Amino acid sequence: MTQVPELQLSTDNGRTTLLVVEDDPAMLVALRDILEGAGFDVHTAGNGRDALDVLADVRPALILSDISMPVMDGIQLFETVRKRPSGMAIPFIFLTARGTREDIFAGKSLGADDYITKPITSHELLAAVQARLQRADELMVAQLQAAYKASLRTLANAIEARDQYTRDHVERVNGYAQALASELQWDEERRDALEFGAILHDIGKISVRESILTKDGPLNEEEWVEIRQHPTIGARMIQGIPYLAPAIPVVLYHHERWNGSGYPEGLSGEDIPDEARLLAVADTFDALTSDRPYRKAKPAADAYEIIKEEEGRLFDPEMVSALERCWKRGDIARILMIGDEAVA
Ligand SMILES: [Fe+2]
Repeated sequence: MTQVPELQLSTDNGRTTLLVVEDDPAMLVALRDILEGAGFDVHTAGNGRDALDVLADVRPALILSDISMPVMDGIQLFETVRKRPSGMAIPFIFLTARGTREDIFAGKSLGADDYITKPITSHELLAAVQARLQRADELMVAQLQAAYKASLRTLANAIEARDQYTRDHVERVNGYAQALASELQWDEERRDALEFGAILHDIGKISVRESILTKDGPLNEEEWVEIRQHPTIGARMIQGIPYLAPAIPVVLYHHERWNGSGYPEGLSGEDIPDEARLLAVADTFDALTSDRPYRKAKPAADAYEIIKEEEGRLFDPEMVSALERCWKRGDIARILMIGDEAVA
């Protein structure tokens, strides 16, 4: 019977915890020795039922399990663990004997890297375990990033909500920005940074008085000074958050203009980071096609023509021609439908 240790998470003194389930004692010892030799903290069980006892106190980073075992087999163990909230995400690797019915089952149902066939070398075992752990880590990072984005969207929408006319602005601006970025064949990393930037570009508006955001007439000079501070304030708000660092250029420079007439620094041409040059087009297109306190939304075709007229003046020609290609393919019209305030 396996000794039950104290409750612990997937690392013990910095070591990754694994659970190995195998009814053949010699095989179990061999597997444990290989894995412990590679630095893992290994817990063992002789069948599925014993494994569930271990899991009451240990949260392994991965379970390596034989299929054919007395009392409770590996498939039953897998199904039981997966039904539990705490076990839904634990990576599983099945050990099967080559050419058996279980081998075929595992191959068909579980995917190639979720089962390994015996006999196995220590090298193959370690490679399979490392690969599966790495995939689990990547999945976790992706899930965390999705959670960050969801939280940031909530925050950005709350800020946008102060200006009742710009509901769904964040979603549409990101939609246009992503369409342009994929037209320009930006890689995933750049598009990710752009997405954070698109979500957060106006976050500094939290410091702008609501009476200014909702004013239904022209702004006076003092009010413009306040509005023009939002990129700098937004950049300052996120500068202490490492994973948002790539979004800073978008937040800080999305109101810079190609001919140097923008703010906050009056940068021009390629001195403006290209993410910000791209977002300027996306942001302006959405602003023109949305109702504002002081004017009604323009039809999309008019907004498109206005941006084209400003090519090489306010906007980077490369970004405008990407917009043109997206426009002609109908991508822009699809994004325009996000929310219910846009006009066709
Ligand atoms: Fe802005």
